[in-house]
Amino acid sequence: MNAQATTTTAHPSLRGRTVLVTGALGGLGTAIVDAFAASEARVAVHHLGQAGEAAERVRRLTEAGTAAMAVEADITDWDAVEGMVARVGSELGPIDVLVNNAGYMAPGRLAEISLEEWRKTLTVDLDGVFLCSRHVLGSMLERGAGVIVNVSSQLAFKGARDYVSYCAAKAGVAGLTRALAREVGPAVRVNAIAPGPVDTPFITPWATEEWKRERTGDLVIGRLATPEEIAPTVAFLASDDAALYHGQVLHLNGGGVMA
Ligand SMILES: NC(=O)c1ccc[n+]([C@@H]2O[C@H](COP(=O)([O-])OP(=O)(O)OC[C@H]3O[C@@H](n4cnc5c(N)ncnc54)[C@H](O)[C@@H]3O)[C@@H](O)[C@H]2O)c1
Repeated sequence: MNAQATTTTAHPSLRGRTVLVTGALGGLGTAIVDAFAASEARVAVHHLGQAGEAAERVRRLTEAGTAAMAVEADITDWDAVEGMVARVGSELGPIDVLVNNAGYMAPGRLAEISLEEWRKTLTVDLDGVFLCSRHVLGSMLERGAGVIVNVSSQLAFKGARDYVSYCAAKAGVAGLTRALAREVGPAVRVNAIAPGPVDTPFITPWATEEWKRERTGDLVIGRLATPEEIAPTVAFLASDDAALYHGQVLHLNGGGVMA
């Protein structure tokens, strides 16, 4: 049977914790916010250039009883990220959980892409994780507690001939995760997930039927995952139930890379 998860487990340890989810209006981000809301966490909904949509999202979350706010920042910009973290801290409370979810992918082979295209992916996917982590860590370390969950990708481990910059950036995220876990643990726990292909707007530009077949053919589940199947693992990693997880990259990919 090809079952897809539809329920979200609430984690009592997340109740009242302040969570910043980057790229929170995207496919995965939306489901991740829902997973934290289900555990009664306080959620900062990060976006870039989607103020109206973010305000509407916060209105709906608040109406449903979730403490929420919208924050905008280009995650590649030091000052913007610093300002965002300060705003969340003063309006929602010091950040207990950071989910580095925002990301960018563009196709391109090494023999063909320009330095500019290479850097754009590296800057969003890797600098973004560095900058957001850099700015939340001070307060987490001062308080002696915190959790960071990074979003890597299965492609960091299996490679993909048309996505050299993305594979490199997401492998960097896995490396950063392990190094940072050793640097700031055990007070701050740092882990990552490495999803396989997920049905979100991220893949829409090139997700022809042939592309989907190619990407799912070697998965045990033989299909794209849904964001709702990924989000519960993020909430779990952020919760106290994951106390033994430090520097791990969880391969929730439907049986692509088996690590
Ligand atoms: N969809 C997949 O198949 C898949 C698979 C593995 C990993 N991922 C990763 O999951 C994460 C979420 O992806 P998604 O599928 O929900 O995609 P999405 O396109 O729906 O969301 C990505 C979000 O990142 C934000 N973003 C991009 N550049 C930014 C910047 N400079 N500053 C601030 N925000 C920026 C976008 O606004 C968007 O909301 C990404 O890190 C992606 O690499 C996705």
